[in-house]
Amino acid sequence: MRIVLYRGDGVIEPWEREFHAVMPDVQTVTWKEGELLAPCDYAVLWNPAPALLAQLGDVKAIFLMGAGVDAVLKFGDALPDVPLVRLGDAGMGVQMAEYVAHAVLRYFRRFDEYEQQARHGAWNPLPQHAKEHFTIGVMGLGRLGMPVVEAMRHFGFPVRGWSRSPKDVPGVQTFAGMEALGDFLHGIRVLVCMLPLTQETTNLLDRHNLGRLASGAYLINVSRGAILNEPDLMTLIRSGQIAGATLDVFRHEPLPAPHPFWNEPRITLTPHISALTMRHDAVRQIADKIQTLENGEAVTELVDRQLGY
Ligand code: GLV
Repeated sequence: MRIVLYRGDGVIEPWEREFHAVMPDVQTVTWKEGELLAPCDYAVLWNPAPALLAQLGDVKAIFLMGAGVDAVLKFGDALPDVPLVRLGDAGMGVQMAEYVAHAVLRYFRRFDEYEQQARHGAWNPLPQHAKEHFTIGVMGLGRLGMPVVEAMRHFGFPVRGWSRSPKDVPGVQTFAGMEALGDFLHGIRVLVCMLPLTQETTNLLDRHNLGRLASGAYLINVSRGAILNEPDLMTLIRSGQIAGATLDVFRHEPLPAPHPFWNEPRITLTPHISALTMRHDAVRQIADKIQTLENGEAVTELVDRQLGY
C-alpha cells in the first residue's frame, strides 16, 4: 500500500517515521510542487497545495492531519470527489479542556488582577465571583467541545451549549440553530467558541451577537479566527462591554505585527496551540480507519461537504 504524505509547512519526516512504526508494510510517498505523483492508495495531508489535490482523484480517501477542514474545503470543486476524513479527538480534546479551563479559571478567580497587585506589593483579597451566576456558554458540542463542557461541569459552573442540530447533554442547557442563538448568548459570562468555520459561522461573533452576553463577559476562541469580527471585539473591549479575551486563533496567522490585539492587555493571545495534533495518536487513528475502509466498512469523522465540516 502506498500513502502520500504532504504538509504545507514541509514537516514530513516525523510523520514518515510514525507511519513506518505504526504501519511497517506501508510505503510512504512524498510530493513536491511541479512533480507528477505516482499512483497512491491514500493521501494524508495538512494545508495541501492545489497542484497535489488535482492529482488525488484516484485515491481511496484523503485523511487530514487535524480537526479543522476549512483549509481544504476552500478549494471547493477543485477538491477531488473522494471521501475526506478529519481527525476525531486524537489527543486534542483533553488539550482543549486544559486550555479553556485555564482561561476560565484565571478570569473567574481573578488571577490577572492578583498578578497586577503582586507587582505593586498589594495584599488585597478581592470579592469572589458568584459561581451560580457565572454561566459558561460553549459553542460547538462535537468531539472537541464535549471535553470542554465536561471540564466546566466538573468545576460546578452552570453550562450552556449551542450546536447546529439539537443535542441532549445531561446537566447542560442546550440550544440549537440560529433561531436559538439569542437565547443562548443572553447573559453568558464566558463564551467559548469551538465551532467549525463555515459560511454560516464566518463573522458570527460580531458586535451584535457579542453584545448579547452579560456585561463584562469574557471570550475564549479556540476554533478559527474568521468566526470573530476582530474590530468589533476591540470596540467592545474598549467600551468595557467585554472584559477581555483569550484568543488562540486569528483571521490571519501568524497575527500580523501592527494588529491592535498585540498591545491590548485585556487580550491574552497564544499562537494556535490550544490543541496540537498528537502525531502518534493521529497516525494510529488513521491506520485504524484505513483498515476499516479496506474491510469495506464505514469510518467516522467523514467530512460532509455540504455542512462544511
Ligand atoms: C487545528 O487547528 C486543527 O484543526 O486541528
